[in-house]
Amino acid sequence: MVMSSEVFSIRRVKGLEVLDSRGNFTLRVCVSTDFVTDCGDAPSGASKGSMEAHELVDDSFPRRVSKAVELVNTLVAQSLVGVDVRSQWRVDTLLRGLDGTPNFSKIGGNTAIATSIAVAKTAASALGMEYFEYIGGARRKRIPVPLLNFINGGLHGAGFLDIQEFLVIPLGFSSFRDALIESVKVFQLLKKELVSRFGKSAVMAGDEGGFSPPVKSSVDALGLLSKVIESAGFTLGKEFFLGLDVAGSNLFDKRKALYRLNGREFTAGELMDYYRELASTYKLVYLEDPFHEGDFDSFSALQRMLSSTIVVGDDLYVTNQERLLIGCKSKSTRGVIVKPNQVGTLTDAIEFAEMALGCGNLRVVSHRSGDTEDPFIADLAVGLSSEFIKTGAPARGERTSKYNRLLYIEEEYSLEYAGRRVLTMI
Ligand code: PGA
Ligand code: ZN
Repeated sequence: MVMSSEVFSIRRVKGLEVLDSRGNFTLRVCVSTDFVTDCGDAPSGASKGSMEAHELVDDSFPRRVSKAVELVNTLVAQSLVGVDVRSQWRVDTLLRGLDGTPNFSKIGGNTAIATSIAVAKTAASALGMEYFEYIGGARRKRIPVPLLNFINGGLHGAGFLDIQEFLVIPLGFSSFRDALIESVKVFQLLKKELVSRFGKSAVMAGDEGGFSPPVKSSVDALGLLSKVIESAGFTLGKEFFLGLDVAGSNLFDKRKALYRLNGREFTAGELMDYYRELASTYKLVYLEDPFHEGDFDSFSALQRMLSSTIVVGDDLYVTNQERLLIGCKSKSTRGVIVKPNQVGTLTDAIEFAEMALGCGNLRVVSHRSGDTEDPFIADLAVGLSSEFIKTGAPARGERTSKYNRLLYIEEEYSLEYAGRRVLTMI
């Protein structure tokens, strides 16, 4: 008879370089027991917070991650072989110990997160469970509301728009499937509208699968989205809402202490007035990183002013509990981005999400702009019962893999769609 400890013992940990959606090499780690193998990928951001876990990449062109592969195959493998694959906390603690720095500056957050995810997936496979069931445990599960990135600007776009993400949010539907079908209708209408206004080059995809059209300002982009939502037969503020990820750090001129947006300079106070106007005109229910990553006070002031908008911290928190504690104390936000690779381990990302909920923040499990076809974050979102998921436009394989996984989970497990009731939580 095979003893259970042997069934779950890690036998092999193997790293390899694979391509991400931008055509850059990134790290995949595969973990095996005697009976199953499963793999995890490290995604990669373009608009990173300065406090994120360090990403270990070679000093090479094109970008390679051979040093991270080498580390996985030697140091990481030596430390994890023989460990029970179900001991996620132990694995993640070992990874932290191997590195010894707070931000994974030695082995790399990419080395850590790809390993950490691979271990969780292999454990679930070994137990014959879905990943979301394994992660979620006793939590009540549901399908998150997608924040669909229809227009890509900032560091993800063609250079026409300063704001990074223009998000369409299908809150007013009773299932994820209906929400997605109607969102796709709006997306395809937007495509038609852009082709007729600007020609075919306006519908080439940005980094997150959305369009990057030559519109002149944020107001024009929001106007366009409102128009197509209405021409699809919906009402802004009823079925659909809009949101923005400003990625404020990228607009901030440290020397002048001013923001540059739409060819104009703004103080934090002026920017706040601008957001207030946008929020009331365009039903902005979601506003991510409206200011630079160090300005907790402006986040707090804005959140106080906009009572029906979820102000969200991404670069502000970088999925880090210590930073979240500052935000909780100063009531800076009502939402957080959960990006496992910002912090380096699944255990840390899950604890961060729990802590966020504990201090009244909704959770947005998020991809990165450089991502792979691995749908794992869809399972993470369902497992955590997060309110939202952010995984780009409903186009391009590395984005659709997550949406397709959610369609499957909803269909197969009859889970409820988080939908409009998430608004009652703010
Ligand atoms: P990144 O940006 O993945 O390029 O860092 C995504 C975001 O800011 O939400
Ligand atoms: Zn962001």
